[in-house]
Amino acid sequence: MASPSATPARFFNLDERDYAAAEQRCRALLARMTLAEKVGQMSQFTSDRDTTGPSIREGYQDDIREGRVGSIFNAFDADFTRQLQTLAVNESRLGIPLLFGYDVVHGFRTIFPIPLAMASSWHPEGVEAAARVAATEAAAAGIHWAFAPMVDVSRDARWGRVMEGAGEDPLLSSRMASAQVRGYQGHDPRALDSVAACVKHYAGYGAAEAGRDYNSVDLSERVMRSVHLPPHQAAVNAGVASVMTSFNTVDGVPASCNALLLRQILRDEWQFRGLVVTDYTAIMELLEHGVAADARDAARLAVNAGVDMDMQDGYFLDHLAELVEADDVSAARIDEATLRVLILKDVLGLFEDPYRYCDEAREATALLAPEHRRKAREMAQQSMVLLENNDLLPLSPAPQRLAVIGELADSRADLLGPWHGNGHAQDAHTLLEALRGRLSSAEIYYHAGVPVDIDDTASRQREIAEAVTTAQQADVAVVVVGEKEPMSGEAASRTDLGLPGQQLALALAILASGTPTVVVTLSGRPLVLSELTAALTGQSAALLHGWWPGSEGAEALVDLLLGDVSPCARLPMSFPRSVGQLPLYYGQLPTGRPVFRENPDPRYSSKYIDSPNTPLYPFGYGLSYTHVDYATPQLDKPTLTGPDDQLTLNIELTNTGERDGVEVVQLYLRDPVASISRPVRELIDFKRIEIAAGARERISFIIRAEQLGFIGSDLRWRCEAGRFELHIGAHVEDTQTLTFDYQP
Ligand code: NOJ
Repeated sequence: MASPSATPARFFNLDERDYAAAEQRCRALLARMTLAEKVGQMSQFTSDRDTTGPSIREGYQDDIREGRVGSIFNAFDADFTRQLQTLAVNESRLGIPLLFGYDVVHGFRTIFPIPLAMASSWHPEGVEAAARVAATEAAAAGIHWAFAPMVDVSRDARWGRVMEGAGEDPLLSSRMASAQVRGYQGHDPRALDSVAACVKHYAGYGAAEAGRDYNSVDLSERVMRSVHLPPHQAAVNAGVASVMTSFNTVDGVPASCNALLLRQILRDEWQFRGLVVTDYTAIMELLEHGVAADARDAARLAVNAGVDMDMQDGYFLDHLAELVEADDVSAARIDEATLRVLILKDVLGLFEDPYRYCDEAREATALLAPEHRRKAREMAQQSMVLLENNDLLPLSPAPQRLAVIGELADSRADLLGPWHGNGHAQDAHTLLEALRGRLSSAEIYYHAGVPVDIDDTASRQREIAEAVTTAQQADVAVVVVGEKEPMSGEAASRTDLGLPGQQLALALAILASGTPTVVVTLSGRPLVLSELTAALTGQSAALLHGWWPGSEGAEALVDLLLGDVSPCARLPMSFPRSVGQLPLYYGQLPTGRPVFRENPDPRYSSKYIDSPNTPLYPFGYGLSYTHVDYATPQLDKPTLTGPDDQLTLNIELTNTGERDGVEVVQLYLRDPVASISRPVRELIDFKRIEIAAGARERISFIIRAEQLGFIGSDLRWRCEAGRFELHIGAHVEDTQTLTFDYQP
């Protein structure tokens, strides 16, 4: 867990001299601006090119001409952004260029797996490379600013937006956050393939009560700081250029007017120097939250709490000038916010050349470049989690007669995921097409099975019977079931996490047909798969969770099914046995009445009477086509003697299987006695290593005192002396234990 930062955060990789020079240039421009023009720079509107929220402002092009807007989002393409930029540069009084923002969340045109899937790779370098591709494509299509990474830690799979983040763990989320910031922003903001990143949603949105989107959040400040803020801080430390506020309230105060979050933590403690933008109409929503009496009041609350730019509701535009005149908002606050907008434009080089990102030739070669597709395929291979394999996968030699079952097996759109940016379904193949392409000499029989439909109450006996007949003609059946794209993501919370419609009945029937069956699940969240998993027992069957794998997802699935590549992903979120267990996560606090392994059913203990506490598939879990043995781990010494001391943990791994593989070695901590109750496990490090068949690898982890620290009840970060446990292994429930003392 990160301790509070003492030094100013870097802004977009600029060194101090360059930052100061940009600031000086922008101050000169600021001095020439009217109050109305400054407020215009603090306002952002969507274009009508894409829709990502409830309202569109008519006449946004007039706003551009009149200098009433500093940034446009949902506009892309070199040609279209050039048209809009021309209005700003040629027709507004000062000709200040627009900043174009867009939700480039997991790719722009080449679509990568959804972020939760990419987090399953436990491969920050791969995730950084994915963000680099996304930035390269977006920048070539006129975009300066990606509304990513989304880093909300989420422990309730009912929340549809779990698909956008890195799951339940602060450390994994933090590594993914900084990797993405590095990827989007590149090394140099002036490079033509760098876009400004925007870490979101600040903060606590992932803890929406009952997993219902936009719902309120009630976290102690200690839990907020310990669990939900670290990935945001990691993004700030990686130089993120901007922060987006979240829709939710935090302890009664909406995040978009929350001075504790926006001033004290973000500015004073983390020393963030970038731009704070709200989420879509979040200032207007202060009225619905019941903290603002009217629009003017809402604008006042947001700007005084530290918001620099208003996304979409026009409340800043309509009210800031009169608020300044009435002395309810200071002129200095307006200057500070405007300056941040101008500095971002300056460092992106827009004052020198407002059209530098609008380049049709670059756009034509960058989008869907073969290298981008190759990276998307690799990332998809590394993101799919093999949950079960009863001696069936890989399908090698490839079957001569293959049945492919399920509506999702022949869908392109449902591979991409809801934040697919400018991704086009026709850029992808369906799994059926990819299998036909690869197994050209095999006979492939397809049946669509049952509709993937939450409201499907009609009996599907006939379709299921036909699908079973199709499966019975084949040597192997591949059944693809799960969610369609609109079933996860923003505003797509669900209370039932089973397979929608009658897909479970379909999958069970195929499993019972006698044909060896691979079940592939696609979704934007952990699903409840208990019955399906139970039905696999004793069958020649396998279960592969493909998430939503992106433009190259079908090819990657075929690579894994046929064994060209071994699965290597690990779950970044626990898969529950039932919705009743939610929220569910491994890093719980111990209770006073725990359930012990040796006595799993004591009467007065913290448990359910109808379900184990444990998940169906735990955090960090995932199989591969090989087997890696862990030898007994060793610590180089028994005691850590102070903040500058370090321990080394060594462990030898042997790939005892016949295939090369990738192992994700996970290191957890337990602090059994401290001044406050500490989680039963806490991920403090991990290493992803490639290990050849038969090879032996020795790996080491360095353990430092700062990894033992936590935020105490006084909200201060501390590191307490005592005995600690380390748990090392292949997932959170499969570890070996060591102990050491911390005696500073
Ligand atoms: C609302 C979403 O919450 C946010 O993630 C997104 O960036 C904005 N809309 C803009 O599309």
